[in-house]
Amino acid sequence: MNLHEYQAKEIMRKYGLPVQEGKVATTPEEAEKIAMEYNGCVMVKAQVHTGGRGKAGGVKYAETVDEVKNYSTSILAMKIKNLPVKKVLIAKAVDIKKEYYLAVIMDRDKKFPLVMASREGGWILKRLQERNPRQ
Ligand SMILES: Nc1ncnc2c1ncn2[C@@H]1O[C@H](COP(=O)(O)OP(=O)(O)OP(=O)(O)O)[C@@H](O)[C@H]1O
Ligand SMILES: [Mg+2]
Repeated sequence: MNLHEYQAKEIMRKYGLPVQEGKVATTPEEAEKIAMEYNGCVMVKAQVHTGGRGKAGGVKYAETVDEVKNYSTSILAMKIKNLPVKKVLIAKAVDIKKEYYLAVIMDRDKKFPLVMASREGGWILKRLQERNPRQ
């Protein structure tokens, strides 16, 4: 099962975990409306089932409603790692002090969930998957 970031955040919100406010849009006009509601700095984030979205230009910081519309237009026309972007998440921008990577993956050999935490992004998981494609 693959979840988009906005879906994962909805689940986390439901169980009381703190996540930034955000809403998903499928058109630049919808994104514009959300930006007007938020009335402040937001991130426009491509919703595709892959990491590295920021590095591919699919995550942009926007300070005005016009910027949100422009970024949404370009991001919704993008393909990231060959996946077409059909939705963007408009999330309130937060002042990030520190970023960590945390994942729970299935160790199929041990038949147990494996928790991974690191100071860096998802590249460790990628390396593991390359070594053991079944994971
Ligand atoms: N709500 C937010 N507020 C402020 N900055 C954000 C927010 N969401 C994302 N960012 C910034 O954008 C970057 C890329 O977003 P994110 O890490 O969620 O996507 P990714 O798919 O993991 O891309 P990458 O591999 O480039 O990190 C983050 O490292 C962070 O600096
Ligand atoms: Mg990241």
